Amino acid sequence: MKINTRINGKDICLEIKPNTMLAEALRAAGFKGVKIGCSEGSCGACAVMIDGRPRNSCILPAGTAEGSEILTVEGMGNPEKPHVLQQAFVDSGSTQCGYCNPGSLIAAKALLDSNSNPTAEDVKDALDGNLCRCTGYIKRIDAVLQAAKAVKTAKAAKTVKADKAVKAVKADKKTAGRAGGKK
Ligand code: FES
Ligand code: FES
Repeated sequence: MKINTRINGKDICLEIKPNTMLAEALRAAGFKGVKIGCSEGSCGACAVMIDGRPRNSCILPAGTAEGSEILTVEGMGNPEKPHVLQQAFVDSGSTQCGYCNPGSLIAAKALLDSNSNPTAEDVKDALDGNLCRCTGYIKRIDAVLQAAKAVKTAKAAKTVKADKAVKAVKADKKTAGRAGGKK
């Protein structure tokens, strides 16, 4: 059977057998960033975003994704152009074997999409369902807080730049007006 989805911004038709879980279907389609750990919805390794919400894809029948917009970790960024969260995970040392990272990154993205100013407690709650055997959890929390801070700083810099541009346009108009008056 076939299901039509949009994955990481591209329309993709997944060819699946009945009873296939979404995690397997995504991996079979080449999205190997979707990891399978427990296969029972407990570890978060297989988390993907479906229509803006993080879901454990190992317990979701693939057929239920018909017409859905799916984001896997591949859609967040790549080594050349990493997402701010991916970079923060690397910088903080949250990546050891990396098996848990895709799911954790999806959960962290879902948090920052809905809360741009999270507390450590918010991060803990958001990543509660994503188990990590190697790194522990402190570095991961630091990474998400660091990423949130970086996004805020970038936004503030953009606003300052935009304000400066508006001021420059206004100043240009004034100068042009004065020059026109002299004619
Ligand atoms: S593999 Fe899906 S929650 Fe563990
Ligand atoms: S880095 Fe290995 S399980 Fe998390």
